[in-house]
Amino acid sequence: MHPALRVLRCPVCAAPLADGPGGVRCGAGHSFDVERSGYLNLRTGRARRVAGDTAEMISAREAFLGRGHYAPLTARLSQLALARPGGEPPGDETASGADAGAEHRGIGPAELVLEIGAGTAHHLAAVVDARPNRLGLAMDVSKSALRRAARAHPRVGAVAFDVAGGWPLPDASVDILLDVFAPRNLPEMHRLLRPGGTLLLVTPGEDHLAELREVLGLVGIHPGKRARLEAELAGRFTRRTSEALTRTLHLGADELVELALMGPIGHHADAAELRHRLGAVLPPDGSGMDVTASFVIDRAEMAAG
Ligand SMILES: C[S@@+](CC[C@H](N)C(=O)[O-])C[C@H]1O[C@@H](n2cnc3c(N)ncnc32)[C@H](O)[C@@H]1O
Ligand SMILES: [Zn+2]
Repeated sequence: MHPALRVLRCPVCAAPLADGPGGVRCGAGHSFDVERSGYLNLRTGRARRVAGDTAEMISAREAFLGRGHYAPLTARLSQLALARPGGEPPGDETASGADAGAEHRGIGPAELVLEIGAGTAHHLAAVVDARPNRLGLAMDVSKSALRRAARAHPRVGAVAFDVAGGWPLPDASVDILLDVFAPRNLPEMHRLLRPGGTLLLVTPGEDHLAELREVLGLVGIHPGKRARLEAELAGRFTRRTSEALTRTLHLGADELVELALMGPIGHHADAAELRHRLGAVLPPDGSGMDVTASFVIDRAEMAAG
């Protein structure tokens, strides 16, 4: 079992998991596969079958992120994840945020970073890489995403699990929790974060991809969504900050298709259809166009012990 996976619990009976034939099993005999591509499948037969992003969407995401267009977001997340509870500056590189009481997690004093709806684990790999004592756990339901996440970084393990249910991890087991443009589950986030732990939540800003909204038929950011998020955070977390990160990206036709495909419209339209639609806004001389990328990063902390 990958060291990061040792924190996981049986999704049926919540007992610890140990290596078994072809996968892992709990003391009560519930067994789960480690897929050939390296991720642990903790989805049970009873679970609703949500498939997540398709292979084409995940390839597009991998290509687009690989070009570095969202590098400022990844860098800012890594920086925010280094801040100490209460906003103090980062301590020395070897310090662990985990206390002795965290031994129940089965991963020793390592700092555990969990990304839910992790996709290719692009952001998670960078956050984990920032400190040598960090382990990362990428959770998603998309097979294509999990295959990439499992090899995103040597200290990142990948697990198939639906964000909507109860998560197969013990209370207060996670030091840093990331949710970037992914479904969220605030009650579980609150249960899993240890005292002093940090939640980093990224949602689209109001002007995100504004130039493409009409041609791709993207829905605008509903103002009610922000209020709902504020309400979900309030009462659960002690200290909250919110910051905007906006960049203008100059993109060619291929990059625009990738960017479109990796979003929700990728569930309804393929590359050929999107290329056709984008032809309506792209200058014919092949010079590309400017597109606004806009993120809101919410940082929330659990009350320390
Ligand atoms: C917009 S992508 C974001 C991926 C990654 N966080 C990033 O920023 O590159 C959303 C991800 O959430 C996953 N997802 C969708 N529904 C899910 C669910 N119910 N449980 C777990 N993951 C889910 C998708 O498969 C997809 O990889
Ligand atoms: Zn079990």
